[in-house]
Amino acid sequence: MKAAYINQTGLAENIRYGELPTPKPSPTQCLVKVGAVSLNPVDTYIRSGMVQMPLPFPFIVGCDLAGTVVEAGSDVKRFQTGDRVWGTNQGLLGRQGTFAEFCAVDECWLYSTPDGVGDEQASAIALVGITAHLGLVRDAKLQRGETIFVNGGSGGVGSTVVQMAKAIGARVITTAGSDKKVERCRSLGADHAINYQTQSVETELKKIAPAGVNVWWETLREPNFDLAVASLAARGRMIVMAGREARPPFPVGPFYVKGCSLHGFAMFMATAEEQRPCAEDINRWLVEGKLKANIDRVMPLSQAAAAHRLQEESTIGKSGALSGKVVLKP
Ligand SMILES: NC(=O)c1ccc[n+]([C@@H]2O[C@H](COP(=O)([O-])OP(=O)(O)OC[C@H]3O[C@@H](n4cnc5c(N)ncnc54)[C@H](OP(=O)(O)O)[C@@H]3O)[C@@H](O)[C@H]2O)c1
Repeated sequence: MKAAYINQTGLAENIRYGELPTPKPSPTQCLVKVGAVSLNPVDTYIRSGMVQMPLPFPFIVGCDLAGTVVEAGSDVKRFQTGDRVWGTNQGLLGRQGTFAEFCAVDECWLYSTPDGVGDEQASAIALVGITAHLGLVRDAKLQRGETIFVNGGSGGVGSTVVQMAKAIGARVITTAGSDKKVERCRSLGADHAINYQTQSVETELKKIAPAGVNVWWETLREPNFDLAVASLAARGRMIVMAGREARPPFPVGPFYVKGCSLHGFAMFMATAEEQRPCAEDINRWLVEGKLKANIDRVMPLSQAAAAHRLQEESTIGKSGALSGKVVLKP
């Protein structure tokens, strides 16, 4: 089969596109014919070696996939040949990745793709969807009628958090780096979208939510805790989920006096049992039209190296080149 893989960590150019043996599914795995995969910043950290994981070389990059089961292992219970599925959590913790024509995936990491939802959509919502759900429902316990601020609403995670928070029934305030991206955030359902390049987020937040926000979702790798804590309402919850090297100052006094809480998590550390209910809600919201993957572009899988470069320029280099997800198709 054709696959995008590396023989050692390093630059995006290390990614080769060529022939590798088609994997054989174990008794608990399904062999999935891949229809589409999507790219996440963590794929680039693993490929570069910035995030160290055990890698089975040649290592196929990528976490997310959607496609069709072409073979089900003897112990697989939930799927059979011909079922359409999506999933994430591959290419992590020693597992092979998804950027290939076929992928052997443990059934615990796969979910049915609803009728009417294409592979591009399903793959692009996978990791970001589970992440948004874990943070909003399990950790922040966002309630209908509450106000949430999402810092970075046009990105892969942010655009999903915006839509999910609306689906839960919250009032959503978000930021983006251009007027076009601000408009995009509004079209995703944000009640208020602030252009962080031309407006003061602090001033706008005071106007929009004078009593503070109940939840602050930070997608930036270097959070401004002074602003975030000052903007939280009493008993506010803050989510952090990016920036392993970040060591920003933290305003302990204002934080504890207001009874706030801070939640950090990495989605791939959540168990399959924790992730399954997230996938069920995601599927329901996809079908109801309340959730749609925010796809910036679709590229051929053969351009995986160029896609990785683009993603790291955008997420780490803050070039603003992307507005959402890159999807690749074999
Ligand atoms: N912990 C986890 O489980 C987990 C899961 C998924 C992702 N992550 C991490 O979360 C981060 C975001 O991931 P992603 O996939 O959403 O990346 P992304 O698609 O590249 O989004 C990055 C976002 O940051 C925004 N941004 C940049 N500078 C900003 C500023 N000064 N103020 C406000 N927003 C700003 C961008 O907005 P504009 O383009 O509008 O400027 C964009 O929306 C990455 O670091 C990723 O590694 C963690």
